[in-house]
Amino acid sequence: MSDQRRPRVLVTRRIPEAGLAIVRQAAEVDLWEGELPPPRDELLRRVAGMDGLLALLTDRVDDELLDAAGTGLRVVSNFAVGVDNIDLAACARRGIPVGNTPGVLTEATADIAFALLMAAARRLPEGHDFVREDRWTTWGPLLLLGKDVAGATLGIVGFGRIGQAMARRARGFGMRVLYHSRHRASPEAEAATGAEMVPFETLLASSDFVSIHTDLNPSTRGLFGREAFARMKPGAILVNTSRGPVVDQVALHDALTSGSLFAAALDVTDPEPLRADHPLVGLPNCLIVPHIASATERTRDAMATKAANNLVAGVRGQPLPDPVPLPAAG
Ligand code: DGY
Repeated sequence: MSDQRRPRVLVTRRIPEAGLAIVRQAAEVDLWEGELPPPRDELLRRVAGMDGLLALLTDRVDDELLDAAGTGLRVVSNFAVGVDNIDLAACARRGIPVGNTPGVLTEATADIAFALLMAAARRLPEGHDFVREDRWTTWGPLLLLGKDVAGATLGIVGFGRIGQAMARRARGFGMRVLYHSRHRASPEAEAATGAEMVPFETLLASSDFVSIHTDLNPSTRGLFGREAFARMKPGAILVNTSRGPVVDQVALHDALTSGSLFAAALDVTDPEPLRADHPLVGLPNCLIVPHIASATERTRDAMATKAANNLVAGVRGQPLPDPVPLPAAG
């Protein structure tokens, strides 16, 4: 990039002003104003000649897109902590740094995970429909019985920042907490959360609730399939706020209709959006919300600020404040 001109960047959706203002200060911005993601051909056309790309988890960043961008592209900044929409190896081969937004969405995401856990345990959506549909005739000793949270065991799969924040909430609610993760948490983190690391199979067999907080990678894709559901405690509840493809939804549907699982509560699905006629949507014991775990005003402002700072640093050729580790370029 010549020093004479301002860098040009593509921002693939309107993000909070907190971030846009930072980007506009530093660069000429092509902002995709659509409510839906830019269609692929539009994305490929607009990215051509850009110095920076601020992408969303709905944009696939791969060889094709990077080729379309051309050799001037200096940074890909994702407006998310998850980066499974980005081919990191393709970025590494071109020497393009990738940024994400860790840390700022931890508490908001754990809040939604715990809200989903509570809602599924106590059948809140069913209760809400019951009243709305005017089916409430009296107080009933057997009406809408759910599962106790206090005293139950929560198994957390993936014990990074968000998994640990979930554990802190669970501890406050009197739950026993187990976790399974690639790496053992620090003694301080284990002490703060009271969580105990166990093998995956032990977690499945011992937990009344299982909450998924792993990233999506080849080893976690389909991790919750028939075999995992068969190992789970009868009547357990599954919560997923990570990525949809970690769960095999056909197997989940069978586990929910056979009664082997009591309920599931999902913030993420495969695909997204999940259409209203999808078999899971019609199940009374499956609560689904539209990938809103980080959707609070403060959190989205903070994500926008981080994504903007990564973008600006990248177009200036500076180290990104929040770089994603890239695989060695082969
Ligand atoms: C993320 O950041 O990866 C979430 O899924 C969206 O906030």
